Amino acid sequence: MNGHSRENKGTQHGSKLLGKPTDPNKWQALLAGTIFAITLPLLIAIAIGTFEKPVPARWSVEAAALGLAPMDLARGATTYAMGCAVCHGSHGEGVVNIGKPLRNSAFVRGQSDPQLHDLIVRGRAPSDPLNTTGALMPPRGAVGLSDAQVSDVVAYLRAIQEPGVPVVAMDAWDLRDETGSLPVATGVELADHRGYDLYMASCAACHGTGAQGLDGLGLPLSTSGFVRGASDRDLVTFVKLGRPTWDENNVTGLDMPPKGGNPSITDEQLGQIVGYLREVQKSAMGG
Ligand code: HEC
Ligand code: HEC
Repeated sequence: MNGHSRENKGTQHGSKLLGKPTDPNKWQALLAGTIFAITLPLLIAIAIGTFEKPVPARWSVEAAALGLAPMDLARGATTYAMGCAVCHGSHGEGVVNIGKPLRNSAFVRGQSDPQLHDLIVRGRAPSDPLNTTGALMPPRGAVGLSDAQVSDVVAYLRAIQEPGVPVVAMDAWDLRDETGSLPVATGVELADHRGYDLYMASCAACHGTGAQGLDGLGLPLSTSGFVRGASDRDLVTFVKLGRPTWDENNVTGLDMPPKGGNPSITDEQLGQIVGYLREVQKSAMGG
């Protein structure tokens, strides 16, 4: 240690001998500058090296396993987000009482690609023997997916089957009672399913799958005097505007978002949802 400081003194002394302006810290500053000049590019090089190391692209592992390009699978993921996530969960984890889990699903694993394609195109009515929720799986996700989009989604469903992970339990989606029959709330006989599909996709998350209302989310609509007393046209207008918390008619202190938060829904579709609500009220309140 001593030897070291003596050496430093010697260097400073040397600079005096050369008759240069004396700054006792000059050599230290120069040394620090040199170290900095050498290490900075080194650090940058390391940083660039780290960043440029090819990060595995999203879906690349899954796509490779399926013999697809990651971009193709990404398309399936986007279509899923648009057409299926509302009922099946953003990661295929399922939404209790509505869409069944699709990630690590025994059903998905057991079906061929054409079988899955067919199911998504045709949907699964509450009357289907495989239906255990009483809820409708709407044809083409109720968003009119093309055949090509359905194929993309099938690829996505394959990609969310994780190798070696056991299949998930479906108990929360089996709503059949001891006699094997399903809850009737959603089993309203409908000549036309469009209103129900749209209701399920845009309103059920807050108002319940049978429009019975959900605590802390949305009021019951099946028994609502407001719904019963309003004309079809008034109801469409109401749903378009919603009922914010600051509205004097708001009773829950919760927001009813304009169009249920789905800006793409049309007046005609809202009319179909209102048609569905009329049917529900008939069965819940006896006409
Ligand atoms: C409006 C809600 C809704 C939408 C949107 C929807 N589903 Fe479903 N789906 C359901 C319901 C409810 C079921 C379960 C019906 C039953 O069997 O009880 C279901 C069942 C399924 C099943 C069978 C699962 C099983 O274990 O039997 C598959 C596969 C499926 N859906 C795929 C999709 C795909 C892919 C999309 C998007 C293109 C989609 N669904 C969009 C509601 C929906
Ligand atoms: C994000 C949750 C949410 C969604 C989605 C939603 N609503 Fe609502 N809705 C509410 C809440 C909360 C209220 C009650 C507001 C209040 O306190 O007055 C409500 C109230 C209503 C009412 C008035 C009921 C009454 O008796 O006063 C109707 C009708 C209605 N919603 C229809 C719909 C329809 C149709 C859709 C789908 C297009 C929909 N809502 C989607 C949360 C939601």
